[in-house]
Amino acid sequence: MQDTFDILIRNASVVDGSGAPRYSGDIGIRGDRIARIGGLAGERGKLEIDLGGRIAAPGFIDAHTHDDRLMLSNPDMAPKVSQGVTTVVAGNCGISLAPMPQVPQPVTPPLNLLDEDGKWFTFPTFAAYIAQLKATPAATNCALLVGHTTLRVVTMDDLQEPATPRQIERMRGLVREALEAGAIGVSTGLFYEPAIAAPTEEVIAVCQPLKEFDGVYCTHMRNEGDRVVDSLEETFRIGREVGVPVVISHLKVVGEANHGRSQEAIDVIERNMAGQTICMDCYPYTAGSTVLSADRATGSSRVIVSWSKPLPQYAGQDLDAIAKQLGCSQEEAVKRLSPAGGIYFRLAESDVQRILKHDKTMIGSDGLPHDAAPHPRLWGTFPRVLGHYGRLLGLFSLETAIYKMTGLTAKNFGLKDRGVLREGAFADLTLFDAETIDSAATYEKPIAPARGIASVIVNGAVVWQDGKPTGSRPGRVLQRETARAET
Ligand code: ZN
Ligand code: CU
Repeated sequence: MQDTFDILIRNASVVDGSGAPRYSGDIGIRGDRIARIGGLAGERGKLEIDLGGRIAAPGFIDAHTHDDRLMLSNPDMAPKVSQGVTTVVAGNCGISLAPMPQVPQPVTPPLNLLDEDGKWFTFPTFAAYIAQLKATPAATNCALLVGHTTLRVVTMDDLQEPATPRQIERMRGLVREALEAGAIGVSTGLFYEPAIAAPTEEVIAVCQPLKEFDGVYCTHMRNEGDRVVDSLEETFRIGREVGVPVVISHLKVVGEANHGRSQEAIDVIERNMAGQTICMDCYPYTAGSTVLSADRATGSSRVIVSWSKPLPQYAGQDLDAIAKQLGCSQEEAVKRLSPAGGIYFRLAESDVQRILKHDKTMIGSDGLPHDAAPHPRLWGTFPRVLGHYGRLLGLFSLETAIYKMTGLTAKNFGLKDRGVLREGAFADLTLFDAETIDSAATYEKPIAPARGIASVIVNGAVVWQDGKPTGSRPGRVLQRETARAET
C-alpha cells in the first residue's frame, strides 16, 4: 500500500494560529505543505506521529532576533527550534551582519553583539549574505532586516555626527540594494551609540526606498524611559513620512520612575493606530540585556554580566559581587570587564504583563545567542509565554498566546502561508504538551531546552525531536508578501 502522506500527525488538538478555538483532527503533510487537515484515520504516512490529544500549532515566529550569525555559525539553531520557533526575524536594533565591505577593528559596539572578533562580518553586500544562507541553510526560516547602525559604520568616518547628504545618499543606496536582494525592511537602534547621533530626518531619508518595496520599519526607540512618549511620536513620524508600517521593538518602559507608564505608552500607540500601521513585540521578562555600561547599571536594581572579553570568567555573575571581588567600584568594574554584556533588571512586572497582554503585541525573544551566560529569553521566551504567563497566570488563552507568536506575526511581517495551520499552508509546526510546556532556562542556568516540546517541523522536515536537533536544515529566506505588494 502506498503512503498517502510524508508525515501524518494523528489525534492532534489543532490550534490553527488565527486565535480560533482548538479542534480535534489529523494533519497530513506532503512535501513542504500541509495537504489535509481532518479525519484521516484510514490514511497512511511515511512518518506517523500520534499526539494523543496534545497540541499541534503553527511553528512559532520569533518577531525579534539577533540570529544573523547564529544561522551560519550554529545552523541547527538549537536555542530556537528547542522552544518551537520555526522562523526568525533577524537584523534588529540597527544591527545586521550585512553589508560589511570592510570590518572595523575593534568591532564597533553594538555590532559586537553579533560577533566580537569580526570574523563573521564577511559579506560585502546583502546579496552575498542571502546567497550564503541559501547555500548553507539553517534549521529555521528567516526574514531579514538591514540595520541602520551597520550602514552608518560602513559609510561614515565620524560616527558621532549626523550623516552628511552624501553619506545619506550612500546609505539609501545600500538600503535599496538590501531590499532588492530580499530584505523585508530596515531596523534602527537609535537608543545606542553610534545611531543616537542620527537625527530623525536622517532616518527618514535613509529609509526612503522602503515604500517602493513595501518594507517595514522596525525600531529600538531612542528612549524607552522618561521620554518614551517622545520616542513613540518620533517612530510614528518616521512611519508616516516614509509611508510604511512601523514595528516597535521590545516595547517597554524602563526605570523605576517610569514604572506604570506602559498604560500611557499604549494609549498613545492606540490613538495613532487609527491613522497608520503600527505593531509591537515584547519579551516576557522584567530584565533586558545589551552591552554593559555604567549608566545602565546605575538605573537597574540588579545587573548580571552576560559576557566579558578581558575577564570571561565573570560571565554569569552579578556585577555587585564582581566589584567586591575586584575590590573596586561598580563603575571601575564595568571598565575592567568591557567590552562586555549585561542583563539589567529595570522593568515592572505589571508593565510587562500589560504589554504582553495587548491584542496587538507579538512575541519576540531579543535573545543574544553569542553571550557566554545569555539572558534566559534566548532559550525560554516562547514556552514561558505559553506556560508561565498563559497556563499559570492566565494572562491569555492558549489560542491567543499562540496567535501572538504565529498568525499575528506572519500578518505583520507579510509572511505568506506561514503562521497558520490550514490546507495549502507551509508545513511549519510545533507539537507540544499544553499541560507541561514551560521554559527551563533561568538567570542562574540560562542554557536549557524548553519543557513540553515534542517535535518541531520546518517546511515539512522534522528539525527537533526527542530533545535534540535532527540535523535537518530546511530553512528558507522568506520574502515579504502583502496584499499591497501583489496589486
Ligand atoms: Zn533592541
Ligand atoms: Cu534587539
